[in-house]
Amino acid sequence: MSDALSPPFNNPAATPVPPVPPFAAAGPGARIIAVTSGKGGVGKTFVSANLAAALTRRGQRVLVLDADLGLANLDVVLNLHPKVTLHDVFTGKSPLQDAIIQAPGGFSVLLAGSGMVEYSRLTPEVRNQFLNVIQEITPNYDVVLLDTGAGISDVVLFSVSLASEVLIVATPEPTSLTDAYAAIKVLAMQQKRQHVRMVINQAARPGDGRAITSQLQQVLDRFVSTESGRSMRLIHMGDIPADPAVRDAVMRRQLLLLQTPGCAASLAIAQLANKIESTLLVPTA
Ligand SMILES: Nc1ncnc2c1ncn2[C@@H]1O[C@H](COP(=O)(O)OP(=O)(O)O)[C@@H](O)[C@H]1O
Ligand SMILES: [Mg+2]
Repeated sequence: MSDALSPPFNNPAATPVPPVPPFAAAGPGARIIAVTSGKGGVGKTFVSANLAAALTRRGQRVLVLDADLGLANLDVVLNLHPKVTLHDVFTGKSPLQDAIIQAPGGFSVLLAGSGMVEYSRLTPEVRNQFLNVIQEITPNYDVVLLDTGAGISDVVLFSVSLASEVLIVATPEPTSLTDAYAAIKVLAMQQKRQHVRMVINQAARPGDGRAITSQLQQVLDRFVSTESGRSMRLIHMGDIPADPAVRDAVMRRQLLLLQTPGCAASLAIAQLANKIESTLLVPTA
């Protein structure tokens, strides 16, 4: 076990336990996948947007919801300027349909916009609004990706609780891994999840992600058990290499998959979409 993953990260006292209804919105309709992380800035929004484009290309009907309400920036990455946002829906100013717009990759988005700082606290109203929105959109899509905030705040945990599957994005940096470990532990204890899925972003070498995932798994096996008594299972879904084309696409506010479809990171995203479709979705072709 690496020092970075040793206790005190295994300290239960450090784990806030807000009352979250696990998988509250699970049911028929779209598969809801939360894209989350322990640490911020690891690539959740980049992965959500480009994975959405790759799944759309495969024929899936995709919606990405900017669930990082306090620090929303999916609109920035996609170069969209929504007239109506989730804020208008939450306040009853606009119907939900008006806030759903088409992104350049052909998928739908529901953007939070920057006016939603007040939603960084989880109040009963925010919960209800969130649930209503999820319930209204799921019948119309095959997959809904929730681009969540980082960490284990109650808003993040609530948005993750709406998803049946969780994709944890982590980078090989020790700080990202210890924070991912903390988040996974909370998901095991509080949401009673038996597994989460891992994507290692900004990997330096092929094979890094698998090694990192199995190292994290060893720590979980020792220190975290789920309700059933088994340890939380990490499922490695893929790696995305560190690629200068990513920063370039973000600077130009373009989807990587559209700007440089042949670059290493684009190919890795396409592979991830393939794996997600084959394991979690009904193939459309
Ligand atoms: N695979 C990658 N290669 C190079 N840079 C990356 C990669 N993934 C993400 N980045 C950089 O990290 C920044 C933060 O990514 P972002 O998706 O906004 O993180 P998060 O949503 O987790 O806060 C991006 O703007 C981009 O510059
Ligand atoms: Mg983000």
